[in-house]
Amino acid sequence: MTAPATIEKNRDVYSIRQQFPVLNREVKGKPLIYFDNAATSQKPQSVIDALVNYYSNYNANVHRGIHTLAEEATLAFEATRDAVQQFINAASREEIIFTKGTTEGINLVAYTWGRKNLNAGDEIIISSMEHHSNIVPWQILCEEKGATLKVIPINDNGELLMDEYKKLLGPKVKLVSVMHVSNAMGTVNPVEEIISAAHKIGAVVFIDGAQSTVHLDIDVQKMDADFFAFSAHKLYGPTGAGVLFGKKHLLESMPPFQGGGEMIKEVSFEKTTYADLPYKFEAGTPNIADTIVLKTAIDFVNKIGKQKIRDHENALLSYATAQLEEIPGLRIIGKAKEKVSVISFVIDKIHPQDIGILLDNRGIAVRTGHHCAQPLMQRFGISGTTRASFAVYNTMEEVDALVTGLHKVIKLLS
Ligand SMILES: Cc1ncc(COP(=O)(O)O)c(C=O)c1O
Repeated sequence: MTAPATIEKNRDVYSIRQQFPVLNREVKGKPLIYFDNAATSQKPQSVIDALVNYYSNYNANVHRGIHTLAEEATLAFEATRDAVQQFINAASREEIIFTKGTTEGINLVAYTWGRKNLNAGDEIIISSMEHHSNIVPWQILCEEKGATLKVIPINDNGELLMDEYKKLLGPKVKLVSVMHVSNAMGTVNPVEEIISAAHKIGAVVFIDGAQSTVHLDIDVQKMDADFFAFSAHKLYGPTGAGVLFGKKHLLESMPPFQGGGEMIKEVSFEKTTYADLPYKFEAGTPNIADTIVLKTAIDFVNKIGKQKIRDHENALLSYATAQLEEIPGLRIIGKAKEKVSVISFVIDKIHPQDIGILLDNRGIAVRTGHHCAQPLMQRFGISGTTRASFAVYNTMEEVDALVTGLHKVIKLLS
């Protein structure tokens, strides 16, 4: 049985859709239905225009020039820092480091804070649902230092076992690094509880905000995160730009990540002194254009409002979950009580890749595979899932099309 066509309750979604030119295109002769938002979101016209405007009108290197274009570029670049500070409620703009994305933020902390503070016998705690980018940098660090990686287990719904976490919090633990929201399941982790428990034993906490920043209100002070990272491209912004937040006293105590221009105060062959925060961690010419345009993406989100975005996405999530649960042989992976708009599922005897290919033939873009979370897939005894992840511009009708498509896939392949 296919789902009935649904009247979209949130009419605003249609005017929001008009701001995304890519949604007008067809794929395989069908209107594009883009459900791969957890991998990267589509970009509104304002973001595309801001990028073109930068290159058309004030392309210049930042910080070093006194000419008009350099000043305009620098002002716009630094305006993003202020916008990010407000967006995540950091205590100061010096705590906002521009990176190329979440992965670089995690590596930065592993290479600098990690190399300085970790010793043989120490422990780092991560969780079994982490993205590879929040596993591998810590593994490399542990190997180098003779430290050990400990893993918080999860239950069958895809929620962290908090009692097990607390048991892991012994005197050797120096760092806890967990994702705020799971990219593969949508689980929202109780980061405030995780952080306060870690702080009681003096451990530092890194929160991977790659998937949370677009859905949830982020307040790094209330959360009391020591480090928090996210990527612009999952937030309706451009690829290649991101943010690492770090508490000032920690960033000040850390050695630089990369050496080069921008990150120095004075250089001589005898000794180099480093720039103050945040520039100490921003060596070389940064990704000026995409960092400037991150502010345009933040403005886009703020204009609609996170609450409204969440309400819309949660309605899509509930509707889709109810529809998918009715499909015989379909099993949802990740049924946490606290979830964002991500649905991962497997269907008996059908490979996720086949599902992905057949849905693509109907213009529906989903992600299939291990979602850079192979240990999580191992936990569930599967090689991968099909994942549909919803954004502000998705509609109930699109969910109906997914459900219809899945019925067709099953009919064809089983
Ligand atoms: C939870 C999580 N962490 C980290 C990353 C890495 O982000 P990026 O590739 O933008 O650096 C992703 C990307 O999918 C993610 O979902």
